[in-house]
Amino acid sequence: MCGIVGYIGRRDATPILIQGLKRLEYRGYDSFGLATVGSAVEVYKKAGRISDSEAGASGLAGSTGIGHTRWATHGEPNDVNAHPHIDCTGRIAVVHNGIIENYSDLKRQLTERGHTFLSETDTEVIAHLIEEHYDGDLLAAVNAILPLLEGSYAILAITENTQRIVAARDASPLVLGVGDAEVFAASDMTPLLEYTERVIFLEDGDVADITPDRYTIYHDGRVVERPIELINWCVEDARKGGFAHYMLKEIYEQPQSFYETIRAGIDDHVRQMIMEADEITLVACGTSYHTTLAFKYLAESFCNLPVRVEVGSEFKYFTPPLRGLVIAVSQSGETADTIAALKMAKARNCPTLAITNMQGSTVTRVADETILMRAGPEIGVAATKSYTAQLAALMQIINLRCDGAFDDALSHAHIAIGDVLLQELHEAVDLCAKAEHVFFVGRGPFYPVSMEGALKMKEISYIHAEGYAAGELKHGPFALLTPETPVVAVCTPGPTYGVMASNIKEMKARKAPVIALGVAGDTELAGFVDIFIPIPNTHLLVQVLTASVVLQLLAYHTACALQRDVDKPRNLAKSVTVE
Ligand code: AGP
Repeated sequence: MCGIVGYIGRRDATPILIQGLKRLEYRGYDSFGLATVGSAVEVYKKAGRISDSEAGASGLAGSTGIGHTRWATHGEPNDVNAHPHIDCTGRIAVVHNGIIENYSDLKRQLTERGHTFLSETDTEVIAHLIEEHYDGDLLAAVNAILPLLEGSYAILAITENTQRIVAARDASPLVLGVGDAEVFAASDMTPLLEYTERVIFLEDGDVADITPDRYTIYHDGRVVERPIELINWCVEDARKGGFAHYMLKEIYEQPQSFYETIRAGIDDHVRQMIMEADEITLVACGTSYHTTLAFKYLAESFCNLPVRVEVGSEFKYFTPPLRGLVIAVSQSGETADTIAALKMAKARNCPTLAITNMQGSTVTRVADETILMRAGPEIGVAATKSYTAQLAALMQIINLRCDGAFDDALSHAHIAIGDVLLQELHEAVDLCAKAEHVFFVGRGPFYPVSMEGALKMKEISYIHAEGYAAGELKHGPFALLTPETPVVAVCTPGPTYGVMASNIKEMKARKAPVIALGVAGDTELAGFVDIFIPIPNTHLLVQVLTASVVLQLLAYHTACALQRDVDKPRNLAKSVTVE
């Protein structure tokens, strides 16, 4: 949650910071702000989207600055609570991503000592604490206050009259970008893509002292060397490229991102880890949890491998007995609940593997090994190409455990994914856009596919949607079925085809309109549902992918029909770094 960005160099900082914040807006977009070192510390901050009021920042001068885009935790989104926050003198400005858990104690103590607070945020205590310790040396002041902070932070601080940024991280991500006589800092790599491919991923506990010409990184008070890594994304990957929304672009990129993730394969260490596992536990949240549930169905049936899946937020407090390999699945690699679960698994001496799209992210540093998905930057808040790339990684694990039995299916899956991108969905979209509630149902691996279809629908269209195991609907939700409540059912050939068809007829008998996804040419199914959407008649693994992509498109077009803000749905952020 929240994105921070910093620039120090020879160029005008403001446009670089604005552009960087726009790239980070997916992390939070209820307000934004900047501070630069001009004639004094100059601050501009505003509630709302950057594009609505960025012009107001054009007066900020200086080639050193920091910026922030917010997802509110402490205090409602308004101009005052927006970052940066300043001290009583206005000489120090701070942006922060994370949560200072002991902020109310610190705030009380600071108030007693005469400090005046302007905002309701936890972050403002940092500016006032630095003020108390600042005697002209910003690095020393930041070092002095960090031990007082409990919680998580990535911080950037500046002061008047000094071309210097001090950065610190603990449990919130922070990346430095190294340019030619200029240095960038950001919550992730996306704001850096325009300027440099050389990055440094700071570690928890690192403090960086940055000037235009050099950066020095300290850990426990000692200078440390952190490796410069090359970013494996390019700037074009992060542009909208003529599409109406990032989400649509990212849906259309799935043939490539799936193919690239399969092509990257699994390295030898990871292979060995997977082959040695006699049981696998997966932890994840949201969409990523749905991929793990699909994996469970597929791995248990195809490779007879015991799999348990756990929601990250539950796992930390109700940790099950653990045996075997633990896999954390997270596109961002920064989801607090998933990281906490991963750390617990490590504490219990389980071998751990991360599956993520984000090079250098926290899960890659916590886990023993990583499978890096090749989805490229995903900007739309709704996960689409990262979902299918996670499935690519997980399906490779299944394929490995089954001695390559699915080589052919996986190496051609991108073609089938490409085929469904052109699927006509007008009728289904019209039906859903008029509805107040939509149910999504399936059996086996299509149950998590349905859960994901429902999640996509609700998060971007704001229509209430539920994903159910098809057999469960009659155990309660049937009470909600009406002629105005569409049910989207995935029904493809296999052992559950007959019972699925019966379930659909039961729904039809309650007058619910049924939109069915079935394999092309299934005239029987097409004959008794209201709307039939064909997907290619392929291997089950590939059907899981194609059905998912159709449901993404259904949600996308429904949200567009309702004129929703598809890429930035209300109340959400893409990277959920708080518990
Ligand atoms: C879904 O579209 C969301 N973006 C959300 O459910 C997401 O999958 C969840 O927050 C977990 O994120 P992660 O994969 O980055 O850990």
